[in-house]
Amino acid sequence: MKAGRTIRIGLCGFGTVGQGVWKHLTASRRRLEARLGTRLEVARVAVRDRRKSRTIKVPAAVLTDDALAVARDPRIDIVCELIGGTGLARQVTLAALAAGKVVVSANKALLCAHGAEIFAAARRSGGHFYFEASVAGGVPIIKALREGLVANRFPLIYGILNGTCNYILTRMAAESASYQEILKDAKALGYSETDESLDVEGWDTAHKASILAFLAHGAWVTPNRMIVEGIEQITPVDIKTAESLGYGIKLLAVITRDFAKNELSVRVHPALLPRDRVLANVNGVFNGIAVSGDVVGTTTYIGRGAGQDATASAVLSDIADAATLLTTGRAVALGDELGQAYASANGGPVKLAPLERIRSRYYLRLTVSDEPGVLARIAQVTARHAVSIASVIQTAAARAGTASLILTTHESNEKAMRATLADLARLRSVREKPLLLRIAEFTD
Ligand SMILES: NC(=O)c1ccc[n+]([C@@H]2O[C@H](COP(=O)([O-])OP(=O)(O)OC[C@H]3O[C@@H](n4cnc5c(N)ncnc54)[C@H](OP(=O)(O)O)[C@@H]3O)[C@@H](O)[C@H]2O)c1
Repeated sequence: MKAGRTIRIGLCGFGTVGQGVWKHLTASRRRLEARLGTRLEVARVAVRDRRKSRTIKVPAAVLTDDALAVARDPRIDIVCELIGGTGLARQVTLAALAAGKVVVSANKALLCAHGAEIFAAARRSGGHFYFEASVAGGVPIIKALREGLVANRFPLIYGILNGTCNYILTRMAAESASYQEILKDAKALGYSETDESLDVEGWDTAHKASILAFLAHGAWVTPNRMIVEGIEQITPVDIKTAESLGYGIKLLAVITRDFAKNELSVRVHPALLPRDRVLANVNGVFNGIAVSGDVVGTTTYIGRGAGQDATASAVLSDIADAATLLTTGRAVALGDELGQAYASANGGPVKLAPLERIRSRYYLRLTVSDEPGVLARIAQVTARHAVSIASVIQTAAARAGTASLILTTHESNEKAMRATLADLARLRSVREKPLLLRIAEFTD
């Protein structure tokens, strides 16, 4: 195709992200077009309700409520799926790919649930699929993994991928306020998803972790095969105690690969991160990712993980890549081509690491009866599972007649800790569900 042609874009979804794309495309159209050597036109915009009042006004002739018609429209070159969810969004994506179009998506839930199907459809039809906005909003982490770090293998990737959880934990730390209080504010400010469990229980982070693991290791690990734990149980006491020990608490996605054993682990959980780590100081709604590559060492990426403008920046970067592809025929490898190349260069498809090989130090908070002999009974349980205690701190408990015990352990593993927790929960003197956090002392 000749340079100077007009590339037609269909926006399916015109909510927060869709309107951001329109706004910034309009504002920077001349600059983008000059760089790309093509004209860019948003030819169709699909919404659910055409009569809804919107900040950005779109000519009536451009607006439709038939997203599938946009996906199939032969005049459209690039389809941006900005609807969300896994229903219509999947149909739109597959229809556009089947028609050989380039699809740009911000939809982590769709990619996590149907990524293999989507990439297969793209390969079959010669379509292409770009998804920079699906992880960490405006932070170009997909491009970094796919292009900038292409020479590397990745023994460790960890990151803060959910701005809502980071906002809650940051304010809990700054104000000694409870999780419930700050969650209320996060909702009022529009930071959390309508269904907050997606954020605070770790599922949104798990979707993004799945995408990063796929890009880096060529395997789709769905959340039901990960450890996924959220932040709901964390109290100001945990944050204060962690601080006194030299740590901050962050909800992390952690992706580790043992190349010798060809084992991969993908997990999402709150963790104590040493204060001197860059990511321990990534606060508020910001996201941060530390990527350790065997060639480059560790590189760190920080920025706004969501919001209209940051997400539009990522979508526009994909639109620019798509326009280059359409005008020059040149494309960087799709995510799965890279992933498969990693897999075959490392002894075939990667296996998930068994729980006994996922190792860490641990932080354990127990609410116990305030009576003699309790610590000895707890120590018997930990010893039975070869979990060695590193420190014990007693803090004031909320209820009379109880005490709060915080233990840290030397390095152990997930299997031993699960067994320990199950046995501790059976002790009569343990009065509430224990809280287990990992101590993330990565050697990166
Ligand atoms: N918001 C963020 O900060 C952010 C960041 C990164 C990634 N993302 C991802 O980006 C995607 C879009 O998010 P968003 O925040 O922009 O969502 P949103 O504000 O809820 O917008 C969704 C849009 O989809 C349209 N839509 C829904 N059902 C439709 C249907 N049946 N037919 C046609 N259009 C339909 C809606 O139409 P109406 O306007 O008529 O209701 C709306 O315009 C999601 O996958 C999300 O996970 C969002």
